[in-house]
Amino acid sequence: MSEMSRQYPFLDLAKTNAPYMQELKAAACEVIERGRYLHSEQTELLEQEVAQLCQADYCVAVSNGLDALRLILRAYKEMGVLQDGDEVIVPANTYVATVLAVSDNGLTPVLCDVRPDTMNLDSRLLEGLITPRTRAIMPVHLYGTPCCDALLLDVARQHGLLIVEDNAQAIGALSDVPGLQGTHATGCLGHAAGISFYPTKNLGALGDGGAVVTSDEKLAQTVRAIANYGADRRYHNIYRGLNCRLDEIQAAMLRVKLRHLEHENAQRAAVAQAYQASISNPRVTTPVIFDTMRQTWHQYVVRVARRDDFRKFLLDNGVGTDVHYATPPHRQPCYAQLAHGELPVTEALAQEVVSLPIAHPITPDDARAIAEIINRF
Ligand SMILES: Cc1ncc(COP(=O)(O)O)c(C=O)c1O
Repeated sequence: MSEMSRQYPFLDLAKTNAPYMQELKAAACEVIERGRYLHSEQTELLEQEVAQLCQADYCVAVSNGLDALRLILRAYKEMGVLQDGDEVIVPANTYVATVLAVSDNGLTPVLCDVRPDTMNLDSRLLEGLITPRTRAIMPVHLYGTPCCDALLLDVARQHGLLIVEDNAQAIGALSDVPGLQGTHATGCLGHAAGISFYPTKNLGALGDGGAVVTSDEKLAQTVRAIANYGADRRYHNIYRGLNCRLDEIQAAMLRVKLRHLEHENAQRAAVAQAYQASISNPRVTTPVIFDTMRQTWHQYVVRVARRDDFRKFLLDNGVGTDVHYATPPHRQPCYAQLAHGELPVTEALAQEVVSLPIAHPITPDDARAIAEIINRF
């Protein structure tokens, strides 16, 4: 890597978190001094704040985003709503964790191709995937673009399907779904949602973290019990549970960062606008900015046919990039046996997607400078 290539790193988490350093240190000290490191005040307050942000009645803070999704499905099994072998429709273009949560619970992932414009689940394909075993749809608000439309809600309603949102990348997003009234936060569009606080996420912990949000009281209680060794009260285990707790110190870090999330998301949106207005290279397809929704721009993902050359050109000119994701779940060795139909859009995206720098400290001016480099490719 040349000196120049350090100009716009794809992501520098120390710099992303630097503006909050004093607040983070003070919050960490408070937890250390208080001496209660699990299931205490910070976790409870975080749960209230995240529930409110997601317009949900309940939030259960957990160990990470994968566990959040696993716990929702496991809880539905304990409640008798889902059974072994039931089918869950998931988008083929997603991080592998979405699919892992399904298969880990003895359920069958059914892959649905995505739309070229949103890169999210294509609800026009849902009817063709439904069988007598279909019980749930798991839309993923990938890259921070809400994935829920009137058709998805209709199909779910007609077939009595659960909607479990993978909201790992979209905390703070708003979706204006015709058929639902008003503007709704991602996380409250279906029956339950899983959130990730992985450090790179818009609301990132300084380690692992996640949350389940739902307005179903029974589901929230069941998730909470399973995540705590299956206990509904101390030393009383009604499920063969797990240990999926969030640390009190991470809850405190997240509460600091939650205060700045709206500003951070607005900054990302300004960077996305700057990219969109300035990238004019016809070989580069920019993502759609929807004026009917609030996207969180967890990633700003362009499409380009000669990806390796493009990334090398950018790196040689000081711009770091990443790829989300080069290998979709059905191409991973662990899912070699997973049956699926044709997935042409997902397959094409896997060859072409490139994520540009978007997190703080990247500014709209930086985006314009990066766009100038892109236009020279
Ligand atoms: C779409 C999606 N689902 C689930 C996860 C899992 O979250 P975590 O890494 O916190 O387990 C992630 C993040 O990594 C993700 O991007």
